[in-house]
Amino acid sequence: MDEPTRGRLTKDGIRIYETADFAGMHKAGEMAARILDDVAPMVRPGVTTAEIDAEITRMVHAAGATSATIGYKGYQHASCISVNHVVCHGIPGPKLLKDGDILNIDVTVIVDGWYGDTSRMYGAGKLSRKAERLVQVTHDALMKGIEAVRPGNTFGDIGHAIQSYVEAERMSVVRDFCGHGLGRVFHAPPNVLHYGRPGTGPVLEEGMFFTIEPMVNLGRPETKVLADDWTAVTRDKSLSAQFEHSVGVTADGCEIFTLSPAGRFYPTSA
Ligand code: MF3
Ligand code: CO
Ligand code: CO
Repeated sequence: MDEPTRGRLTKDGIRIYETADFAGMHKAGEMAARILDDVAPMVRPGVTTAEIDAEITRMVHAAGATSATIGYKGYQHASCISVNHVVCHGIPGPKLLKDGDILNIDVTVIVDGWYGDTSRMYGAGKLSRKAERLVQVTHDALMKGIEAVRPGNTFGDIGHAIQSYVEAERMSVVRDFCGHGLGRVFHAPPNVLHYGRPGTGPVLEEGMFFTIEPMVNLGRPETKVLADDWTAVTRDKSLSAQFEHSVGVTADGCEIFTLSPAGRFYPTSA
């Protein structure tokens, strides 16, 4: 069955997929995660983000997959690469990575019509202690959000788990970008907020597929989009980090579709 008839929609317009659909999401998610594993050795001072993106493009095609981002709303690359104070949607380009840079690489592939969307943080050379801490807190915030995914909980419970942890670490959660439903489409309801109050928002049901992708800043949460209409940066120029998994709600929790086959989601190179 194809969209829009596959599964059913909740009253909030969130699609409920079938048990058999998890297999397609696992295949797509694993492919995206494997690409993020395989690109890790390239991330070092002196390489450009365009060179990293070119390798990702090659890997997507070598795997027999399709890039979901090339041609998406005019975007022309197989990855977003967001360095230091770039929050998300960084465009790969000729800028050289330098010692101490932190960067998020975000890849979305389409395999047999299913979307796999994941991102993680990398470091070039030796990182400062505050950069290391930001990356660790952002990873742990994502995992706390994932721990809140089970039928009967709400999307507000996910946001609250993330926000309360991040703010206790004296960092801030970006409000201007959110996670999203996905499946046979890239971006679908609901908006998955990374902040919120317990018990608010739509109730989670078995068969929902969505991303959780918190962006965390060392300084204030405000962002702005540069003149290229894509690159989002922190207004106060503070460092920003992000991790993203695609998940599916099961009877008693969730499955993560984008687990790293090499066990290198975080830390990224170990
Ligand atoms: N992968 C991003 C997300 O997590 C979306 C990137 S859209 C692009 O939703 F066009 F900027 F690539
Ligand atoms: Co996403
Ligand atoms: Co993404």
